[in-house]
Amino acid sequence: MTHTDKLFELAVKARKNAYAPYSGFKVGASILSDKNNYYAAADVENISYPCGACAETGAISAMISAGDKKIKEILVIADGKDLITPCGACLQRIKEFSTSKTLIHLASLKGVQKTFKVSDMLPHAFEEEGLKK
Ligand code: THU
Repeated sequence: MTHTDKLFELAVKARKNAYAPYSGFKVGASILSDKNNYYAAADVENISYPCGACAETGAISAMISAGDKKIKEILVIADGKDLITPCGACLQRIKEFSTSKTLIHLASLKGVQKTFKVSDMLPHAFEEEGLKK
């Protein structure tokens, strides 16, 4: 089984547990860290809509909480008409724990359909230099 197959399997499994009663839109995300560990999460919505959390955010929290620091690959899966991409806020979160080689896989229920580098999806990210005066 390839890393991508494993990421896909974990994201599919997490997605099944998504708590998305308000949008009805279930998302799964999985991460392969720089230490070759896997993490996965689903979206978790809330009756107070803005309190909901994206699947990617949950997967990043799981990785950081376990002690790993960098994302080698991240996969996001949904079952919409079109492939989904991580939202802007999640791209910024992904960027925080990425390297120039980090990959973002976009998947449908059939498997991975597209793969991008983080810089392809967030070419002008807010970075540390931006804080300099
Ligand atoms: N969602 C994610 O979990 N990840 C994304 O990349 C896009 C959107 C979730 C948030 C919300 O629970 C539902 O999808 C509909 O926006």
